[in-house]
Amino acid sequence: MQMPSTVRMFEDLPREHGFEPLVVEGHIPNELHGTLYRNGPSLFSGHGQRVQHWFDGDGAVSGVRFSGGRASGGVRVVQSEGLLREREAGETLYPGYSTLPRKWTRRFMGRPKNCANTSVAAWQERLFALFEQGLPTEVCPETLETLGESNLGGAVRGTFSAHPHYLPSRRALYNFGVNYGVGTRLAVYEMPDEGAARRLVEIPLAGATMVHDFIATDRHLVFFAPPLRMNPLPILLGLKTYGEQLTWKPEEGTEVIVVPLDDPAAYTRFTVEPFYQWHFGAAWEQGDEICVEFVYYPDYHSAILLDDLFAGRPTVEIKSDFRRARINPSQKQLHWEVLWDNSAEFPQVSPRTLGGPTRYTYLTAHADQAFGLQDVVAKVDAKTGRVQTLGFGAHQYPSEPLFVPRASARAEDDGYLVCYGYDVAEHRSFAAVLDARDLDQGVLARAWFDHHLPHTFHGVWVGA
Ligand SMILES: [Fe+2]
Repeated sequence: MQMPSTVRMFEDLPREHGFEPLVVEGHIPNELHGTLYRNGPSLFSGHGQRVQHWFDGDGAVSGVRFSGGRASGGVRVVQSEGLLREREAGETLYPGYSTLPRKWTRRFMGRPKNCANTSVAAWQERLFALFEQGLPTEVCPETLETLGESNLGGAVRGTFSAHPHYLPSRRALYNFGVNYGVGTRLAVYEMPDEGAARRLVEIPLAGATMVHDFIATDRHLVFFAPPLRMNPLPILLGLKTYGEQLTWKPEEGTEVIVVPLDDPAAYTRFTVEPFYQWHFGAAWEQGDEICVEFVYYPDYHSAILLDDLFAGRPTVEIKSDFRRARINPSQKQLHWEVLWDNSAEFPQVSPRTLGGPTRYTYLTAHADQAFGLQDVVAKVDAKTGRVQTLGFGAHQYPSEPLFVPRASARAEDDGYLVCYGYDVAEHRSFAAVLDARDLDQGVLARAWFDHHLPHTFHGVWVGA
């Protein structure tokens, strides 16, 4: 059975604006005080031709500010250099994940555009729109206006992933970039709360691959490099798109790379059975082992779902589960434990447990059948195995839920979940507030935009 079509969420963002009051339905807790920033591809009609993939849309950073039980929201398209040039030229100038410029001369040796469309990071009171094939793009947290690309004081050379992770124990944000060339290299970065960003180490990868996310414990960073091989030559010649030439080579297995934070050059690597992951949840040290929780896929078939969603076709069925890997780096071993055998994505945990033992994970999930967009928010209790899910109502689709601890919280799950929702019938978007302790309480509040926001991938909560 297929769910109602969500294809209209891939219409262009109809209106850009700064923070303005949103209409609130329900009750926003007074103590919820801060801003939810999110990012997602938001312009698709392109420059003379519609982009061919969700990933190729220009990013828009949106924000919903909660204060005193009220909410205001704003959204602006990131004014990347590439977007400005394309607007001026009136045509698509850059090859994307699945989009090629019409003109052959634009394809040959074409560099991708920094679409700045995947996530938002907050660092040292600055805000950045992130895109894994480019540099961070700084955005004003107050007005959402674009300030421009940044190499973080010269630290970042090449690309910067859309998935930085913060470690409270080290008071630093960590991230990486994958750089293709004669060999493919993974550069690892540290961005401390105070002081300059720096590159920790550069690691050659076994083959040209795509690494989307990683995870951090108090002592180690863990990367899974899948056997998703790319051949840069047809891309450089303009013969194929990035997405077209990605090839799943299961015989090469997935490489596990463990980087000790106190001695990054002494990294360990070994290869295990092939699998793919987009996103990680929690990770922590446990004796000689590292526990890593993430959404597991047997291969790269989820990419077809992304194509199907964007095209408005019935989608393929997703085969995935939420699981824990127990990794022993010295023995080069990895063991599995499935925590929830259900299709889910966008795992999030409390910011207070990052890098340490974590019991609760919040995700979006498929309620019944793994077709189409995920339609419920889920809370997985890894200790008891209990799973709670919450649908937002008929034809309303949630985004990645971010956990905001209550100021006085003692329990790990004492806090709120904040996310977006999209209503298919209304063709409008809202920010939703849930009680993380008990999803059965339903949606506490919806703060409605008067227009839709194209579906967002990731965000960040910045407390007031
Ligand atoms: Fe992601």
